Amino acid sequence: MSTAVLDAATAAPAPAAPDPDRLDALVGRMLGDLGAVYILPLVRIGDELGLYAALAEAGPVTPAALARRTGAQERLLREWLSAHAAAGYVEHDAASGRFSMTPEQAMVFARSDSPAFMLGAFEVAYANTLDVPAVARAFRGDGRGAGYHGRCACLFSGIERFFRPGYAAHLVESWLPALDGVVAKLERGALVADVGCGHGASAILMAQAFPRSRFHGFDYHAASVACARDAAARAGVAANTSFEAAGAADFPGSGQYDLVACFDALHDMGDPVGVARHVRAALATGGTFMAVEPRAGDRLEDNMNPVGRVYYAASTMICTPVALDQAPDGPALGAQAGPARLQAVLREAGFSRVRVAAETPFNMVIEARP
Ligand SMILES: C[S@@+](CC[C@H](N)C(=O)[O-])C[C@H]1O[C@@H](n2cnc3c(N)ncnc32)[C@H](O)[C@@H]1O
Repeated sequence: MSTAVLDAATAAPAPAAPDPDRLDALVGRMLGDLGAVYILPLVRIGDELGLYAALAEAGPVTPAALARRTGAQERLLREWLSAHAAAGYVEHDAASGRFSMTPEQAMVFARSDSPAFMLGAFEVAYANTLDVPAVARAFRGDGRGAGYHGRCACLFSGIERFFRPGYAAHLVESWLPALDGVVAKLERGALVADVGCGHGASAILMAQAFPRSRFHGFDYHAASVACARDAAARAGVAANTSFEAAGAADFPGSGQYDLVACFDALHDMGDPVGVARHVRAALATGGTFMAVEPRAGDRLEDNMNPVGRVYYAASTMICTPVALDQAPDGPALGAQAGPARLQAVLREAGFSRVRVAAETPFNMVIEARP
């Protein structure tokens, strides 16, 4: 048989002609997405210069008046405000030429204590763009992933600001009460480890709520540990917290802890089963392991939604290369591992009573007991 006949026999089928309506819909959707991507640097500038807080405080204001309040360059500020108005992130009154924020816009952009505060999420997205070279190296297969230690500093502050509003809204109010008997122990005075504590947001919130308990934060990233210590001092909980640089599979304290918690970190770890085994050994009799993980379904097709979209992208840039950096042949669970996979990890580590105890739109809380 000639090669021409073979090629014809094995050639890929001709691609179907594009459907103009579907193409229109896709391009229209991309335009919306591009608007979000293009405004990312503007949001970072607004965050760094305090423009959102100033606008929320000022009420309806002209660019010139906002420039006077903030010291920002007026012409640039007008363009920045126009871009935000076109995005629906601020309001514009055509008659007066003034810009303002609705209470909802202020909650998202200006109030760091609001549960809807989003500037941390934008900061993480920005960090991901800065970390493209490191993650691209991992994609090229240099044998390692891209660990936390090589990332830009705004990733760590961004993660803290992204997650803290959710922890502030749910941790003390609903997640800890969903665990069997844990709140009573915390009220009496318990010993708690927060593993992969980052900048310490979760340990600090718990230390404020339960002053009779002691909270030890551990993280292998020494710079984050130093930030956690400073944050605890600022929050007035230095006396019942401590923060130490230590790996999740070898933090100190065998058979001691009433509660070990891991917030948005277990799936980042190269050897999650080894970590969970170490946690189990660190628990006192009757102790509980609380793994707070990103909310997900068990299959890709369950996660085809806006939350899954954000998490898969963040997981490609952060969680998966971080885990591969620690264990190139490890499971690299990723941020959308889902409850079945995570519960299997905990059972493999020797926990026999494992369940999803609580869920919010962004997180699920897994309780594991020996
Ligand atoms: C997504 S961040 C979450 C930080 C913090 N728990 C929070 O919720 O804000 C994951 C954290 O896990 C830490 N981490 C990852 N692998 C670790 C390991 N093997 N041992 C200790 N910490 C680890 C990272 O340094 C990072 O601070």
